[in-house]
Amino acid sequence: MKKNNPIGLFDSGIGGTSIWKEVHALLPHENTIYLADSKNAPYGLKTKDEIIYLSCKNTELLLEENCKIIVVACNTATTNAIKELRAKYDVPFIGIEPAIKPAAIQSKTQTIGILATKGTLSSALFFENVSKHPNVTIIEQIGHGLVQLIENGDLDSLEMKELLENYLLPMVEKNIDYLVLGCSHYPYLIPQIKKIIPPSIEIIDSGEAVAKQTKKILEEQQLLNDSNNNASQIFYTNSNPEVLKKIVKPLESVFYKNF
Ligand code: DGL
Repeated sequence: MKKNNPIGLFDSGIGGTSIWKEVHALLPHENTIYLADSKNAPYGLKTKDEIIYLSCKNTELLLEENCKIIVVACNTATTNAIKELRAKYDVPFIGIEPAIKPAAIQSKTQTIGILATKGTLSSALFFENVSKHPNVTIIEQIGHGLVQLIENGDLDSLEMKELLENYLLPMVEKNIDYLVLGCSHYPYLIPQIKKIIPPSIEIIDSGEAVAKQTKKILEEQQLLNDSNNNASQIFYTNSNPEVLKKIVKPLESVFYKNF
């Protein structure tokens, strides 16, 4: 595997670009290829088998592009499919899981909230994680409808505001002091969320941790790109590229691809 081969990332849509941004900020010399499987979003309502099938399809596309490592920039795909991906393909995988541990450790009210998809919250991996923190009350909430609105670029609609209020205000009443964003789409909602919850509640996601872990594994496997050439950043979507173009900078390239 060559050091200047790209890092591959995939998500059910545009949300994983929140992870790509962290990876790119930490590893600016790395080439990257991002797959937005928006045609099949949301993954959160699919069965485990469907999620495994789509995750394999995305992985194979990235391997055709010679990716040296794959970042599963989707909590739903990670919690449902990463074991199967690691067993099937001979490439390192970095997954993303809801950041329950840092929230649980730091919580003073011993009560934390987590907003994630149905697929993530019902996965065995998530259950395993939660059971490591028996002394903390974890309030789980499925973010029904949020991913679809984000995929449509509908962040500031009344519908979004009402959904967020319905999901978050009951957690506030239960005295959470940490809100874990357990879906890579949700960091794009932080401005809207901050209008609803008090500033004393800390919002956390896993983007930075994923970027650090990606760097660590590349270092360990001596796969860090040490060339100073301008790195290329490519985004493929199988849906309307306009929404993706709005959230990644103009320098980067967004292409439609039928996959
Ligand atoms: N962005 C994804 C996640 O992190 C999946 C959202 C979805 O497609 O339901 O869970």
